[in-house]
Amino acid sequence: MKMLFLTICLTFLLFGVSNTLDNGLADAPPMGWMHWQRFRCVIDCETYPDECVSEQLFRNMADLMVSEGYLEAGYEYIIVDDCWASKKRALNGSLVADPVRFPNGIKALADYVHSKGLKFGLYGDYGNLTCAGYPGSIDHMELDVNTFAAWGVDYIKLDGCYADQETMEQGYAEYGRYMNETGRPMVYSCSWPAYQEPFNIKPNYHALRKTCNLWRNWDDIDDSWESVSSIVTWFVKNQDRIAPFSGPGHWNDPDMLIIGNYGLTVPQAKAQMTIWSIMSAPLIMSNDLRAIDEEYKKILLNRDAIAINQDYLGKIGKQVLVKKKVAVWTKVIMPNISGHPSYAVGIVSNRTDGFAYKVDFPLKDLNLDAPHGYFVQNVFEDQADFDIPSNGSISMRIIPTGGVLLKLTPRMKYSEIQIIQSEITVDKI
Ligand SMILES: *[C@@H]1O[C@H](CO)[C@@H](O)[C@H](O)[C@H]1NC(C)=O
Ligand SMILES: *[C@@H]1O[C@H](CO)[C@@H](O)[C@H](O)[C@H]1NC(C)=O
Ligand SMILES: *[C@@H]1O[C@H](CO)[C@@H](O)[C@H](O)[C@H]1NC(C)=O
Ligand SMILES: *[C@@H]1O[C@H](CO)[C@@H](O)[C@H](O)[C@H]1NC(C)=O
Ligand SMILES: *[C@@H]1O[C@H](CO)[C@@H](O)[C@H](O)[C@H]1NC(C)=O
Ligand SMILES: *[C@@H]1O[C@H](CO)[C@@H](O)[C@H](O)[C@H]1NC(C)=O
Repeated sequence: MKMLFLTICLTFLLFGVSNTLDNGLADAPPMGWMHWQRFRCVIDCETYPDECVSEQLFRNMADLMVSEGYLEAGYEYIIVDDCWASKKRALNGSLVADPVRFPNGIKALADYVHSKGLKFGLYGDYGNLTCAGYPGSIDHMELDVNTFAAWGVDYIKLDGCYADQETMEQGYAEYGRYMNETGRPMVYSCSWPAYQEPFNIKPNYHALRKTCNLWRNWDDIDDSWESVSSIVTWFVKNQDRIAPFSGPGHWNDPDMLIIGNYGLTVPQAKAQMTIWSIMSAPLIMSNDLRAIDEEYKKILLNRDAIAINQDYLGKIGKQVLVKKKVAVWTKVIMPNISGHPSYAVGIVSNRTDGFAYKVDFPLKDLNLDAPHGYFVQNVFEDQADFDIPSNGSISMRIIPTGGVLLKLTPRMKYSEIQIIQSEITVDKI
């Protein structure tokens, strides 16, 4: 009997914990900055000396991540996307950085980023070529992973251009094994579902969760509300299928935050931050940190929105109700008071007819059932907190295509104050 028990325990130890990637990273959705949406593949440093994809750009952004308070708020990764490499590998086969734009090489840049207390991410591609035509890793996977590790990379984004969709599940896993074998903890951001979902190939989400820390499910984001809205539409349509695979260590990724660029109004920026926080999406900004208006910066640095995104439970919120083209999203968060969880509630309008109509959402229609109602904090507005009784409603006027993020904490009778912490220790036998 004892032997049998021991065997079962050992089996669990060997196989039971292996259905998710176990590299100890991304317990909460990763936060950082990546150049792609804002700076694309701008390599003409004569015309755009301050904006071309170059060592100087990343050094500038690293400085601002710290001096403007982004690091302190949780944004820790500086990620170099496509177009950093030389078009030709070195004679020994290694990837090398473009010698003009990265005169000191990638390791020196990673060292600089680390010296600021930040972490460093780098882009590669699983296929023959990167999306912009730089060398891909398909025939050099182990070498490239080892090179990245030697340079001090902390986060790898592996894209999927010029590759065969059918081989991705295995190929990305192989690349991940090389990452593990380097012994250097590196976040693994995969792109393979974004090359399968649009072609109606259903990615194996069990394999994704086992292989990657995060994965791009769908289209690249562009700098417009239409782009945000179409991505959100896809995630809502597929939320019941994909949400179960997202959680601590392994996240769905609807792509970058475009807040602070040309494309979103302030209310739309609040809507993106609201939905990304509730979906537990990675918060990877792509913007020019030298030129962000104060109102947008406040949204990106909003402590309560970030806390909702990074909540310890790592639950995935969903869209639960739509009324008059206004959608309500809910996510379970801490604290859990007298057995009733708190909630983040997002309300996002998709109206375009120019008037902010009042919409009422009774708590009971949202399955929010704390017996004494909730204390409600309006995350993006100061001094706009209020109470709702248990039989009450959330009543809001939302600016067309704007969003409001609320934090609802159960109210309690003084006599029964008792905060129930959720299970803190994960029992691995
Ligand atoms: C390969 O060549 C590059 C460029 O000359 C060099 O930086 C790198 O250290 C070499 N790699 C190995 C493994 O020798
Ligand atoms: C990758 O390159 C190989 C060898 O040139 C070629 O056979 C294959 O079709 C290419 N695959 C893709 C998806 O471009
Ligand atoms: C490699 O994988 C093992 C088993 O999942 C894990 O314990 C270890 O932390 C991983 N190492 C790295 C560097 O990812
Ligand atoms: C908003 O409305 C547009 C136009 O009807 C629609 O295409 C889009 O999917 C909607 N977006 C969301 C997030 O529901
Ligand atoms: C909240 O606490 C109750 C009572 O301990 C528990 O049953 C419930 O699962 C908790 N909810 C969450 C989301 O942790
Ligand atoms: C909610 O309950 C209170 C107290 O029982 C009652 O006075 C109030 O009319 C109720 N409100 C609604 C909207 O039913």
